[in-house]
Formats: sequence, C-alpha cells, structure tokens
Amino acid sequence: GAAVEVDIGGIKPGEKLTAEWRGKPVWIVRRTPEQLDALKSLDSQMADPNSERKAFPMPEYAKNAGRSIKPEFLVVVGICSHLGCSPSDKFQSGPQPSLPDDWKGGFLCPCHGSTFDLAGRVYKNKPAPDNLEVPPHMYLSDTKLLIG
Ligand code: FES
Repeated sequence: GAAVEVDIGGIKPGEKLTAEWRGKPVWIVRRTPEQLDALKSLDSQMADPNSERKAFPMPEYAKNAGRSIKPEFLVVVGICSHLGCSPSDKFQSGPQPSLPDDWKGGFLCPCHGSTFDLAGRVYKNKPAPDNLEVPPHMYLSDTKLLIG
C-alpha cells in the first residue's frame, strides 16, 4: 500500500494528530515527560506489557518501553483489537467514569470498555486481547513522518 507522509511539526505536547493509512486511522500522540514517566508504573496492569504477543508484527524499532522510535511520539493504529471500534482519547489523568482510579491517561474504547495506556498497551481483564498496532513508519526529518 501507498505510504503516507505526515507533517508532525504542529503537534503540541499532550496533543494527537490523526492521519489515514490504508483506510485506517493512525494516531500520532506527542507525549509529555509526565505521561512518559507514568508508563513504567503501569506494566503490572497490562495484558502484554512488552508487546510479546504475535497479533501484529511489532517493528524492531518500537520494541521499547514507549513502543516508539522517538520517546515523545506514539504512532499507533487507532483501532481496538477487540471488534474494531475506534477508542476515544482520555488523556487526562485521575479518576473518571469507566476508568481505573489511578488512571494515567490513554484511550477508552466506547464499545465494550477496553482501556489502553499512552503507549497503546491494553489493560488486563478487558475484552480487547491485544495492544494497539504500531504501523511501519520512519522519520524523514524532525517534522516529517512516513507511515507505511
Ligand atoms: Fe473495543 Fe470491544 S471493540 S472493547
């Protein structure tokens, strides 16, 4: 499929840009240092903290704590691994309806309540079996991302 070039220069910390690749939404989230720090503390709550399951081929360059090439930018396909709904942004931390009390920011699937952290990792004991897919991608420059 055709690769898609995306200008990420305008994404502010804590914001998300949605691109389209092969008819799917691809989210680019610029994570704040606080959001990145919080990821480590969540490992025990994740179904597959190190993305070792084989549901999606995990690119080598994303096999790290942030599941990303550059720590601040998360790049994932915004489709729930349960039945394909698109999760909603829940970037704010703290108690909110339908979210764990110690919520650190992430995504909530409106269909059956699966939750994902800001690395796109799925929380345990939720209907979605797998983490969000990291699509093949590379940086052409500091502000240009190539997906596909
Ligand atoms: Fe997301 Fe069911 S489709 S939880």
